[in-house]
Amino acid sequence: MPKKTLRVSKIKEGTVIDHITGGHALDVVKILGITGRTNGVVTVAMNVPSKGLKFKDIVKVEGRKLASDEVDKIALLAPRATINIIHNYKVVEKQRVKLPSVIRDIVKCANPACISNSNEPVQSTFYVDREEPLLLKCHYCGYVMEKQDVLKQF
Ligand code: CTP
Ligand code: ZN
Repeated sequence: MPKKTLRVSKIKEGTVIDHITGGHALDVVKILGITGRTNGVVTVAMNVPSKGLKFKDIVKVEGRKLASDEVDKIALLAPRATINIIHNYKVVEKQRVKLPSVIRDIVKCANPACISNSNEPVQSTFYVDREEPLLLKCHYCGYVMEKQDVLKQF
């Protein structure tokens, strides 16, 4: 395939999630709640050669924008992803996802005995020990969660 050939066509309206860490396209699709029964055109490209990353994945969702909690979840799996808003075929907004140093309410602690899993009104809270591969440390019990623990919850 010649270098400049587009692998998947450009979209007119919607969102392109680009520079997804290779291997995570389907996790992103799941985070977005896209199933075989959802409406709207969705394009997934996997293992695309990329400059910065060795391989990247791309997900294009036509006709919609992402909610902030969806962006937060994507950041956990693909900290280098960019969210491009497309309007009339043009990129009108480009945002790199950002993983905050403290993660609240997005994931639950995998330790069943953790106080954040009891009926106490405590907000789940994690510190990002490492971005990639992901390591999250629970504020309450010190349990360290890996990417796989997080993926199970999405
Ligand atoms: N894109 C698209 N449809 C459009 C415009 C852009 O699907 N109408 C896609 C491009 O294929 C690319 C992403 O949106 O995957 C971002 O587009 P652009 O900013 O033009 O590409 P780059 O400059 O390569 O982006 P970056 O600098 O973030 O690597
Ligand atoms: Zn905990």
